[in-house]
Amino acid sequence: MTTTSSLALEATGVCVAYHGTPVLRDLNIKVRRGEIYALLGGNGAGKSTTLNTFLGFTRPQAGAVRVCGIDVASDVLAARAQLAYVPENVALYEHLDARENIEYFLRLAGTAWTDASIAAALRAVRLDESAWRRRLSGYSKGMRQKVAIALAVARAVPVLLLDEPTSGLDPQATTEFNTLLQSLRAEGAAVFMVTHDLLGAAEVADRIGFLDHGHIAHEYAAAGGERFDVRELYRRYAGAREAA
Ligand SMILES: Nc1ncnc2c1ncn2[C@@H]1O[C@H](COP(=O)(O)OP(=O)(O)OP(=O)(O)O)[C@@H](O)[C@H]1O
Ligand SMILES: [Mg+2]
Repeated sequence: MTTTSSLALEATGVCVAYHGTPVLRDLNIKVRRGEIYALLGGNGAGKSTTLNTFLGFTRPQAGAVRVCGIDVASDVLAARAQLAYVPENVALYEHLDARENIEYFLRLAGTAWTDASIAAALRAVRLDESAWRRRLSGYSKGMRQKVAIALAVARAVPVLLLDEPTSGLDPQATTEFNTLLQSLRAEGAAVFMVTHDLLGAAEVADRIGFLDHGHIAHEYAAAGGERFDVRELYRRYAGAREAA
């Protein structure tokens, strides 16, 4: 970790348009270290565009995006070095096992590693040790996600970006996944996840933002360790979308 900024992610006044059609309009988001932020919104609301903006794949026409205090437009590589991105369908090498995949991607990232550090990362995500030497072609979606997150743990990056991490996970895998996010949060990581799963978000997130008309239309924080009132959230979320 190369920076002391407690703000892990910051989007300020971000505007993105594709071929003249606005997708993000004055988007403002702040995510701190040790915080799990869930971004919800309908199909096409701009959730993946928001992730792409943090990753520096999409350049905003207005506004600024910072990762751990680093301006993405000024130094995209330094910003990306702070990030781990886990797409909905994790792209790893099917013919390699978990350890080999992690080794390969750590080499690409130029991160120093040892057998022990990789084993520690796989243990941290609770990937069953009997699977470590099996090819990923035989892995379930939940196991693949664990490998992708183990890679983030091994890189010791402070910020995780997750696109629909629990879609397609069974309840047990979802519970394990939530436990994993909570332990990363306890170690000071920031987690920014895009999801359609309001219930799941209410269970694990510290803050929930609803993206609508290109900006955060509503944002809710779980105060003082209390969980969200899911019914109330659902009512507002559905109500806001009906009114749109
Ligand atoms: N590269 C692109 N070129 C042109 N239009 C794009 C591009 N990427 C996204 N869009 C458009 O921007 C809008 C927002 O797309 P985005 O993928 O960010 O939505 P989303 O909230 O992630 O949706 P979903 O829930 O379906 O994943 C959509 O209308 C989409 O068609
Ligand atoms: Mg998307």
